[in-house]
Formats: sequence, structure tokens, C-alpha cells
Amino acid sequence: MNIPFFSFDKMQLNCKDEIKEEVGKVIDSNWYVLGKRLFEFEKVFAKYSQTTYALGVGNGMDALLLSLLALGIGKGDEVIVPAHTFIATFMAVTQTGAIPVPVDVASETANINPNLIEKSISKNTKAIIPVHLYGASCNMEEILTVAKKYNLKVIEDNAQAVGGTFKGKKTGSFGDVNATSFYPIKNLGALGDAGGITTNNLDIYQKIQKIRNYGSSEKYVHDRVGVNSRMDEIQAAVLSVKLKYLDEWNRDREKIAEIYWENLNLIGDLKLFASNKYQFSVNHIFAIRSKKRDELQTFLQKNGIETLIHYPIPPHLQKAYFELGYKKGNFPIAEEIAKTVLSLPIYPGLKSSEQDYIIKTIRNFFEKS
Ligand SMILES: Cc1ncc(COP(=O)(O)O)c(C=O)c1O
Repeated sequence: MNIPFFSFDKMQLNCKDEIKEEVGKVIDSNWYVLGKRLFEFEKVFAKYSQTTYALGVGNGMDALLLSLLALGIGKGDEVIVPAHTFIATFMAVTQTGAIPVPVDVASETANINPNLIEKSISKNTKAIIPVHLYGASCNMEEILTVAKKYNLKVIEDNAQAVGGTFKGKKTGSFGDVNATSFYPIKNLGALGDAGGITTNNLDIYQKIQKIRNYGSSEKYVHDRVGVNSRMDEIQAAVLSVKLKYLDEWNRDREKIAEIYWENLNLIGDLKLFASNKYQFSVNHIFAIRSKKRDELQTFLQKNGIETLIHYPIPPHLQKAYFELGYKKGNFPIAEEIAKTVLSLPIYPGLKSSEQDYIIKTIRNFFEKS
């Protein structure tokens, strides 16, 4: 059997014809940037996200960057980020001129450990970026409590968790402003790069409308310095179609995750990341941990099963962040996760025979080793 890490097949089957029709309409409209399709998508995405406003931008990293800029974060400021995340969370902060300050994650969840945030706050700290990693929400209650105590802004990095909830409320609706990614293999994926921002704050919304469009809301009049980061009409049309299927696709992922849980927990030295009853995880990534990760990955590969590692080197140990001055051992949980974590195939359309084969092969590995 050959099982890829990810496949679009089922999702395409659900909506390819509809997408082709909608994209056809965009082509015929003669209008491709900042138009009707984007504004329609922003309306439905805001409603879906339980926020007043949504904005479509170029990609997920820009969504974070524009959110930070709209909050006035820049040179000399510090922003708390989890030590285990995709590099974009760090780089968006760096792009503003501010400094990312990593906080270690909790071993059970791989998300920022709210108990460790307080001791990393300095007089320069302006904001916290909780990342809902692998699709499971952070404990937003605890994070908002710390933020309130120190008067810090909160920007959720919801790139991996669109459709998820914490205590019944959508991720991406808790922060002052929130960012997400519609990179193709995200749970809600465009057919190219795209990103989204959600907020309940009119001032932030209006600022981002300008920042994404050269600091302008009137043609050739520029009130501030901005960037060019606008979701185009084709991606907006694609996402409007796909959004209708998102909850169904997330439920498919949930079923697959449940089967992994039932069959892999307590096999060999495997550890799984716990969700709790307050969360609906959208299972963007199904990550397992083992000290024998590298051998397990090779074994799976030899048996036709593709896996990935999210992520093998924590941002604070990347060459790009050498200047921050961190070294091995600074964030032990994040470093341990980077050494042991492995992501298994999970996507709508993964067949139960394929999942059985993945589980059987993993069990085989641990029986032999
Ligand atoms: C946690 C996280 N934040 C931000 C991003 C950036 O999104 P994009 O790739 O759309 O720029 C990603 C994308 O993989 C991500 O996983």
C-alpha cells in the first residue's frame, strides 16, 4: 500500500465542479483584486468565526504581521510566542522590528504553557501570540487572564485550527485580533497562498483595510505606510465554496483521530497529545511522540506510509534566530517534542483500510523493536 501524507482527492470530489463554476464567474467579471468576491467571503468568514469583522490577506504570515502592525507593535517591543511552533509566528514578530520572546510549551498539549507566561513578561512586553498547534486550542481562559493582568494584547495564531472551539467558542474569536492561514493543505485551504484576519474591533479592522493596501483607502491617497497583501478574487471564490464543507471535513478528521487514539495509545513508548473536554480539535495534524521516532519514520516509509515532522528544529535553535542568544536546553519541552514528534496521515478521505494499515504497521514496528 502507498499512503501519502496528504491528499486533496475527497475534498476535490466534493466541490471541484462548484469551484470551477465560481472561478469561471471571476474570470468573466473582469475584476480580480479587492472586489465583490473578497467582500462576500469576508462576510461569511466573519460569521463563521463568530466575530464582527474578517479580512482576506495574502497569506497566514501576513495575517500575523498586519495584526501586529495594526496594534502598533514595532521596534523595542517584545511579543510572547510559544517555543514550539511554525517559524512564521516568530518571523511575523521580527518583521515588525519587535522581538519574539519564546515561552516553553506544555508537554501534554504542545501548546504554550500558560503557567510559564508571567515570568517572561518584561516592561517591553506588548502582546501574546498563542498558537493553536496541530488544530487543538490553547487554554484561552488562562491566557486572557494573564493578558488582562499585564494589559497585553492577544493575537491568536489560528493557522492550524480554523473551525475549532474552546468552551464552545470559535478559536480566532478570543484575541484582540486573530490570524489564520488558508495555505492549500490547511483545513480550509485555498488553491494558492491566502490568509485571514478576524476581529471585533472596528478601529483594528479599518487599520488593516489600509495596511493591506499600501496604507490607502482612497486611490492614490496614502495615510500610512502599508504593504501589498490582499486575498485575490479567485482565492476568495474558492474559499467561499470550501467553507460550506469545512465542518463536515473537520468531523471526518475527528473520526480518524478517534481511531488513532483507540488503537495507538499505550503502544510501545508512544505518547499522544491530549485534547480535553473543553476543546473541539480540528486535528489539522495528528502528531505522535516516540524516542524511536527516526527509526519509526524510516520503517513507515519502507512500508509505503509517508509521514512528516512538525517541526524538527525549534525556532530558537534556528540559524535565523542565532542573534536572540538562546541555546540548547533553554526550552526543554519544545526541544524534546522536536526530537520525538511524528505526524501521521490525516485528511478527509483517508480510507479505513488505509488507516488500519498505518496502525498495523506501527504496532508491527513496536513488536519487533
Ligand atoms: C502556526 C502557523 N502560523 C502561521 C503560518 C503561516 O501561514 P502561511 O503559510 O499561509 O503564511 C502557518 C503556516 O503553515 C502556521 O502553521
